Amino acid sequence: MSNDSPIGIHDLSFATTEFVLPHAALAEYNGTEIGKYHIGIGQQSMSVPAADEDIVTMAAAAAAPLVARHGSDRIRTVLFATESSIDQAKSAGVYVHSLLGLPSAGRVVELKQACYGATAALQFAIGLVRRDPSQQVLVIASDVSKYELDSPGEATQGAAAVAMLVGTDPALVRIEEPSGLFTADVMDFWRPNYRDAALVDGQESISAYLQAVEGSWKDYGEQGGRPLEDFAAFCYHQPFTKMAYKAHRHLLNYSGHDTDKDAVERAVGASTAYNAVIGNSYTASVYLGLAALLDRTRDLDGRPVGFLSYGSGSVAEFFSGTVVPGYRRHLRDAEHRRAIARRTPLDYAGYRRLHERSFPTDGGDHPTPAQTGGPFRLAGLRDHKRLYEAR
Ligand code: HMG
Repeated sequence: MSNDSPIGIHDLSFATTEFVLPHAALAEYNGTEIGKYHIGIGQQSMSVPAADEDIVTMAAAAAAPLVARHGSDRIRTVLFATESSIDQAKSAGVYVHSLLGLPSAGRVVELKQACYGATAALQFAIGLVRRDPSQQVLVIASDVSKYELDSPGEATQGAAAVAMLVGTDPALVRIEEPSGLFTADVMDFWRPNYRDAALVDGQESISAYLQAVEGSWKDYGEQGGRPLEDFAAFCYHQPFTKMAYKAHRHLLNYSGHDTDKDAVERAVGASTAYNAVIGNSYTASVYLGLAALLDRTRDLDGRPVGFLSYGSGSVAEFFSGTVVPGYRRHLRDAEHRRAIARRTPLDYAGYRRLHERSFPTDGGDHPTPAQTGGPFRLAGLRDHKRLYEAR
C-alpha cells in the first residue's frame, strides 16, 4: 500500500428504528392534504425510535455488519458524527466501541456541525488513512430528528445511522479532491442544550441551504473541480427528499444549465428512495442517499458522483467520488430493504406517546420498556448512566 493508493468508502451499512409513522396517519390527525407530504415535501413515512433505541443502538446496529465482514484489526479510529448527542463529555462512539468489542488500541471521538458532521468525519478519516494507509477508520453518522409536535417541522422527522469503513483501495467509492467549502453564520436551525426538539426557521433554512449550494459549488470550481457534465448522479443532504430536487435545480440554474425535469430526476431520483420512507436522519441523510443510489443503480461502474453535504448554522461541502467498478458485489441492498420493511407501523397516538416521553433526570433506577427487535438496546438508566446491552 502506498500513500498514493485511492482512499474512500470500502463498505457501507445502515440501520433505522423499530417503529415507523406513515405520513398518512399524521395527515389524518392534523387535517393536512396528503399531497403536501407525499408530493410537496416528498415524504411517505418517518422512522420513530422505540423507548429502548437511541443514537448508540442504531449506530452499533449499523456498524456491526461491517465488523462481521471485515474484522476490526485495522480499525484504529472511530469517528462518530451526531447532533443528537446523549452526553456533553463522553463520545457516543465509546459505547459503540464497547458493544462491538473493538480493539482497545484505538481512538474514538464525536463530531458536531449539524447535518454536516459526517462529511467532516469522512474527510478527517481520509486524512488519517493517508497518514497511515494500513489503518481503517470507522465513520458513523447517527441521529434522531425531532421537532415540536404540531409544528411545520414535524413532518420532516426521522432517524437512522449509517456506518462506513474508510480505507485504501475501497470497494465502493473513491473519494476525490478537491472539495468546495462554504461556511456562513446563520440561525436557520439550532438546538440549545436544554431542548431535545430543534428550533427552526423553515423558509430561512431552505434559502440558507440553497446559498450554501452556490457557495460550495463556486469554491469547488475555483479549486479545480470537475465540470457538472462529468457527474452520473448527485447525493444531496435530504432533510426531506424534495430538497434534493430543489437543490439540484438551483445548482443547474446557478451554473447556467437547463433545469430539464427528466434530467433532474435522473440526477437525484435514485438517491431519494430510502430517505423518502425514513425521513431526516441529519448527519446520516446524505449517506443514506448514497446507499440508495448504489443499491438501486446498476451502471455506475467507474462513474463520478457529486456529494453536497449541508449542515445548518451553516457549513457545506461539495465533493466528488468515483464509484469503483464491481461495486455491486459488495452492496447490502437486501439487508437495507429488510431494515426498512421490518419496522412496525405506529398509529398517531402511539407515535405521540413516544414523542412525549422524556428521560428521567433524577439519577434513579429506570429500566426501559423492551420494545426493539434490533440487535442492541438501551436497557435503562441508573446513577445518571445509560446501560446498553446486546440482545
Ligand atoms: P410548511 O410551511 O409546512 O410547508 O414547511 P410549505 O407551505 O412550504 O409547503 C411545502 C411544499 O408542499 C411546497 O412546495 C408546497 O407548494 C407544497 P414548494 O413550493 O416548496 O415546492 N404543497 C403541496 N404539494 C402538493 N399537494 C398539496 C400541497 N400543499 C402544499 N396539497 C418546511 C415546510 C420544509 C419548511 C417545514 O417542514 C420545516 O420547517 N422543516 C424543517 C426544516 C427543514 O427541513 N429545512 C430544510 C433545509 S435546512 C437543512 O436541510 C438542515 C437540517 O437537516 C438540519 C441540520 O443541518 O442539522 C434541517
